[in-house]
Amino acid sequence: MVDSRTPQRAATEPEIATPALVRIENVSKEYHLGDASLLALRQINLNIHSGVFMALAGPSGSGKTTLLNLIGCIDTPTNGRIVIAGLDVTGRTADELATLRALTIGFIFQTFNLLPVLSAQENVEYPLLQFEELSAAGRRERVMHFLDLVGLREFARHRPNQLSGGQRQRVAIARALAVQPKMVLADEPTANLDHKTGKGILRLMRRLNRQTGVTFVFSTHDQRVIDMADRRVDLEDGEIIRLGMRSGKQWTYAMERANPDADDDDNDDQK
Ligand SMILES: Nc1ncnc2c1ncn2[C@@H]1O[C@H](COP(=O)(O)OP(=O)(O)OP(=O)(O)O)[C@@H](O)[C@H]1O
Ligand SMILES: [Mg+2]
Repeated sequence: MVDSRTPQRAATEPEIATPALVRIENVSKEYHLGDASLLALRQINLNIHSGVFMALAGPSGSGKTTLLNLIGCIDTPTNGRIVIAGLDVTGRTADELATLRALTIGFIFQTFNLLPVLSAQENVEYPLLQFEELSAAGRRERVMHFLDLVGLREFARHRPNQLSGGQRQRVAIARALAVQPKMVLADEPTANLDHKTGKGILRLMRRLNRQTGVTFVFSTHDQRVIDMADRRVDLEDGEIIRLGMRSGKQWTYAMERANPDADDDDNDDQK
């Protein structure tokens, strides 16, 4: 799989031999609306290795948010099994899932979801209150460390309405990372930002992925954002149609459904 033309391998190249951080096995998700039912995900099989920077791509309605919600234990599959960090999360109670979520998963949302009455610093601190072993001083130190990482130390006392969109998303990133999760899930993290700011947010996420080794999984329809990932999962009508791995500027597709669109006839020499 090594591309000799691109000596710089991703710093976070996953350790193939270790078990995946997330294992999704034969997962389907059906929604019911009155008498009608809708199969939002069909027979999804996917391994997410620790340390990857993974994009879920696909048109509106293809199942990206549904899949992120299942990985994030916000929702449960209709069929199939999801194993996170060795723990089978299928069939757990809502309380058990909430605990697992709080300890292992950080979330970043399209609309930032900051609490408007709290300052940047307090927003980052809020999820840390669940850790009884952390002293107030320890909490503050951690908050400032993560605000620093996202370049917002001087804005610690600003409330969300005193920050730009990009700055708000950076607070949300600091908040997600401050719990020191195993992975961060981001649903369209750049959708409410202009392209330049969105790209800056993605660059920041990628730098944090490399620096901290935290796994990132994010959804997007923006091709330019997808190209910043090192793994991509292409969804269409609730199915995975393609799995890609990036090496340098080139994508190699590990799996591709028969009869894909004819727009990807380049750089398939490593298949
Ligand atoms: N709570 C729900 N109840 C019923 N149907 C739902 C629900 N949530 C999603 N769906 C349907 O499931 C399918 C997948 O939706 P999902 O939100 O996962 O798509 P998406 O890829 O995230 O789209 P977008 O890019 O627009 O955010 C869609 O057809 C949607 O209408
Ligand atoms: Mg969505």
